[in-house]
Order: sequence, then structure tokens, then C-alpha cells
Amino acid sequence: MANMRETDQPDRGDSTMPEPCTDCALDHDRRDFVHSVMALIGGIWVGLGLSPRAALAMPLNFTTGRRGPAGPEVTYPIPPTDGATIDKPNEIILVRAEGMVYAFALSCPHQNTALKWLDDDKMFQCPKHKSRYKPDGTFISGRATRNMDRLPLRSDGKNIYVNGDKTIESDKDQAGWAAAGVKI
Ligand code: FES
Repeated sequence: MANMRETDQPDRGDSTMPEPCTDCALDHDRRDFVHSVMALIGGIWVGLGLSPRAALAMPLNFTTGRRGPAGPEVTYPIPPTDGATIDKPNEIILVRAEGMVYAFALSCPHQNTALKWLDDDKMFQCPKHKSRYKPDGTFISGRATRNMDRLPLRSDGKNIYVNGDKTIESDKDQAGWAAAGVKI
């Protein structure tokens, strides 16, 4: 009489056994490859003395735009890389992200608190009631009831010219708000 261990063992010659999953093996290989590449990038970044999160951050800069003697335009060089630039004296934020440049009023559209840029999270946050906004000013969460206020801007291919005296509120002029950006 066969003992329990022998009868419980699956018959490896049984034709009802499932075929090995070649797609699964490929998925594992792909996952291993991606993990290896990410580990390699992280290692290089750490080797340079930087944190892996910083590799994905959009940096924050500060500047003061040039305001002409007459008229509302404030001039900035086109930001060389993606990131946020804050001009406190003129109360303007300039953002370069995904091939676009936008200009915003520095103040939160809820109760006019100066917005902060979260480098690692790549978003704006209001320190007062924690409203959050994407780099293009789109509202994410919090007490605010509209997107960040954009400012009209233009470019001549070298500089960005921002009209610092006119805000475009997304709940009053949705089309104007959507159009207030320049491709670079
Ligand atoms: S003032 Fe910014 S969320 Fe209230």
C-alpha cells in the first residue's frame, strides 16, 4: 500500500499539469531589468552626493524680473531647465514644465497667502490651508476653489514677458486661463 506522501505527490508526467508560463518569465525578466537600471541610476546619484529623490526633483530658483519704466511687463530670461522660479518683489511665479512656460500670481487664490514650491513632490502648496496645485497651476486638493491665477505672457524666443498687472482666474475665464502659456 502506497504511503500518503507518495499518493499526495503530483504526477510530473500528468498531461493536465499547466504549461510553464513563458510570458510570466518575460515579465519577471523585464521587472528585474527595470529594477537593475533604477538601482544603477540611484547608485550613480548617491555617488555624486545627491539623494535619489533629488534626481527626480524640479528645482526652485529665486529671481527679480526686469520691469520696464512704463507698462506692466516684467522680463525674464527663458528658464534653461524645468523648475519653478519665484520673483518675490514682483509677486510672480514662473514655471517651466514639459515644454511650456507659465506665469502665476504668487498668492494663493483662496486667501492670498504666498504659495510654496515643494521640490520633491513637484507641486505648489499653500502654507495656510494646504491647497495643492500642479506645476501648470491646476488645483489638486484643499480649500481653494479654482486653479492658481495665471498671468498673460509672451516670448520672443529669448525672453519671457509677463504682464504683472493682470491675473486670469480659471473660474471666470477658463479659455483665457488655458491659453496663458508659451511653448518653448
Ligand atoms: S489661503 Fe491658500 S488654501 Fe487657504
